[in-house]
Amino acid sequence: PWDEALAAGIIRELAGLEGALLPILHALQERFGWVPREAVPLVAEALNLSRAEVHGVVTFYHDFRASPPGRHVLKLCRAEACQAMGAEALAEGFMRRHGLAWHGTTGDGGLTLEPVFCLGLCACAPAALLDGEPLARLDDALLDGLVEGARA
Ligand code: FES
Repeated sequence: PWDEALAAGIIRELAGLEGALLPILHALQERFGWVPREAVPLVAEALNLSRAEVHGVVTFYHDFRASPPGRHVLKLCRAEACQAMGAEALAEGFMRRHGLAWHGTTGDGGLTLEPVFCLGLCACAPAALLDGEPLARLDDALLDGLVEGARA
């Protein structure tokens, strides 16, 4: 939930940094899970930027989310070793079956899909993280099963 005092504290702590905008946004996202809309004017004021400038940065960088993530977050690896093992087809199939795009969330708010670039699991490609847990040697059925299991 939104906590203005907490957000203001985070912003105050980091506002003195050189190039404070990105560290502040990262810290807010870390704490809240996304960059709450309510934080944008606070950040703008602290850094002497316009709200539009802050909002523009939040929406430009895919690292930041401007809305809450789904209850579960699947991060599919798109880096080279996984690609060589069919990660692209795995991702495309998954997106088609679940009506998702990269950075998208299912209509029920249950699952958000994000790309990642190498999880250090190249030997067990294609790899992914589901709610932070590593998944290895994925195929369509295994991935769907694991996701269904998490959402059940
Ligand atoms: Fe996917 Fe390394 S390339 S885990």
